[in-house]
Amino acid sequence: MQTRITELFGIEHPIIQGGMHMVGYAEMAAAVSNAGGLGIITGLTQGTPDNLFREIARCRQMTDKPFGVNLTFLPAVTPPDYPGFVDAIIRSGIKIVETAGNNPAKWLPLLKEHGIKVIHKCTSVRHSLKAESIGCDAVSVDGFECGGHPGEDDVPNFILLPRAAEELKIPFVASGGVANGKQLVAALAMGADGINMGTRFIATVEAPVHPNVKKALVNASELDTRLIMRPLRNTERVLTNAGVERLLEKERTLGAKITFDDVAPEVAGVYPRIIKDGDMDAGGWSCGMVAGLIHDVPTVQELIDRIMSEADEIIRRRLDRFLRARPTPVAASA
Ligand SMILES: Cc1cc2nc3c(=O)[nH]c(=O)nc-3n(C[C@H](O)[C@H](O)[C@H](O)COP(=O)(O)O)c2cc1C
Repeated sequence: MQTRITELFGIEHPIIQGGMHMVGYAEMAAAVSNAGGLGIITGLTQGTPDNLFREIARCRQMTDKPFGVNLTFLPAVTPPDYPGFVDAIIRSGIKIVETAGNNPAKWLPLLKEHGIKVIHKCTSVRHSLKAESIGCDAVSVDGFECGGHPGEDDVPNFILLPRAAEELKIPFVASGGVANGKQLVAALAMGADGINMGTRFIATVEAPVHPNVKKALVNASELDTRLIMRPLRNTERVLTNAGVERLLEKERTLGAKITFDDVAPEVAGVYPRIIKDGDMDAGGWSCGMVAGLIHDVPTVQELIDRIMSEADEIIRRRLDRFLRARPTPVAASA
């Protein structure tokens, strides 16, 4: 399958693995790239620019295919060493960067100067247009159903994607809620040039997470995610658990008076406890509604092959059938 996204990034299939905190290590990115998609190492997860440099080198030993690095711009009192991370990306020769969280305008000239293609993650049409206007090469359009931060507009992909197609000139991928070939075809039908998946890639053999995390995804349904930190305008979609329900109870009782300190016990520093130690009740970790479509833990290669062959089958057979099987219209008077 050839799309503007496969051409832009030099990949075989129009499937991207979005940056994921504490999941986006070399093992994950290399598995996706080796299977013909675009793997992404999560920059901030590596802790320091030097560690990121080493992680990129480690990934290069696992794949000779293209892969990228995610740079998430967080609202932080003491921001991470962004100049250092950008420098590590440039020094290591990475040619694809996925930006997220905030406008990447400040970093674009430097990235472009080094021939780096930038795909920016957006949760609205207006942010996508902004990304286009500042020179991003593509956008990842994240609908309300996505795992992680869906923004505050609450527009699901069935509306957001065709709206993006109405306005954007640069290519975009459908992100949020995607797990299978049906959805890849639907995304293409709605104007996207491919898909970006987060949650689905966590339930794979190669994902470097505790087995309890994969089990939780297989057991969860589409009803099992919650939106936390809404009152702080930092909404995150997470898998529900005892910690999350405790946090939501605080949101209900404290109302508008709530501060980050109130929810910190259930969100700050819980990723290692969940993702590495498998303590599934520790608190909020990003997870999409797509959990309801996850029923197994295949290898990344099996997952991507399955998506592509299902998409192929749908395009060649199912959709074509609707045209050929169109009944002859019966005259109104008959
Ligand atoms: C566990 C987890 C961690 C994530 N961490 C990040 C992150 O650090 N930076 C980022 O830009 N997106 C992050 N995301 C969002 C994904 O890159 C992707 O946009 C999202 O998962 C798509 O929705 P889906 O989960 O329904 O596929 C994360 C998602 C998950 C599930």
